[in-house]
Amino acid sequence: MTRSLEGKVAVVTGGGSGIGRGIARRLAEDKAAIAVWDLNPEGAAETVRMIEDEGGKALALTADCADKAAIQAAAQETRSKLGPITILVNNAGIAPFTPFMDIGEDEFDKVIRINLKGPWLVTKEIVPDMLAAQWGRIINITSSSTQSGSFAQSHYVSSKGGLLGMTKALAMELGGTGITANMIPPGSIDTPMLRQAPIDAEAYGKTLPVKRLGQVADIAAAAAFLASEEASYMTGQTISTNGGRYMGSA
Ligand SMILES: NC(=O)c1ccc[n+]([C@@H]2O[C@H](COP(=O)([O-])OP(=O)(O)OC[C@H]3O[C@@H](n4cnc5c(N)ncnc54)[C@H](O)[C@@H]3O)[C@@H](O)[C@H]2O)c1
Repeated sequence: MTRSLEGKVAVVTGGGSGIGRGIARRLAEDKAAIAVWDLNPEGAAETVRMIEDEGGKALALTADCADKAAIQAAAQETRSKLGPITILVNNAGIAPFTPFMDIGEDEFDKVIRINLKGPWLVTKEIVPDMLAAQWGRIINITSSSTQSGSFAQSHYVSSKGGLLGMTKALAMELGGTGITANMIPPGSIDTPMLRQAPIDAEAYGKTLPVKRLGQVADIAAAAAFLASEEASYMTGQTISTNGGRYMGSA
């Protein structure tokens, strides 16, 4: 049994910042070739620079991971430059804070489109590669807010709750094909997204059982395990990497 991902190709959506960057760097350290898909070209290029500096192999692609044509184009380029994709991390997301009565339909639809329909489209595009290989890892980045609720985020929590359900449904449907689907609901990880939230992040970290904010490496470690051969008997499961913020099950 090995942790090495040598010879495998991973797509990390939203890999140009925060958690996605951390996961991309960690999977590259474990020897996977990484395709960083992000709306933000500078962020994606910076992640690739970091991976190359660390001795890894990576490709930056600018793509709206909720746009079918952009996803197809990014997948084609990834396949032709790196090979078939058998590890997928659905991480790209947005997390606005708006009180329930102030959320308009446009804002609701945008959050659902990026956080839920996007992962559905990307997964649909990539699963055929995994089926052909009879091996695959789908790792969905959900949110601890699906477990606890979150103030002024009814659209966000709905989208991540949908992704939670999709993960379990995929795990069931793809079971027996060598493909697993699992999720990581992060809680309070120190990223640009957290720093933009209307909370005092530093003070909040001190209220957690572990008395600190999480680092992207904390999520990356969980993702590396789920991507590995050692996690082949885990599917439809949740690794709650949240400093003890929420201690219930999925
Ligand atoms: N930071 C936390 O504490 C926390 C907690 C719970 C869940 N999450 C989830 O983790 C994931 C990563 O969050 P983060 O904190 O690293 O945020 P971040 O804002 O630092 O990074 C998000 C990245 O996703 C990209 N992105 C956004 N929309 C996109 C789209 N349509 N297509 C392609 N790329 C897109 C952004 O350009 C950015 O590079 C998100 O899904 C978020 O909801 C984070």
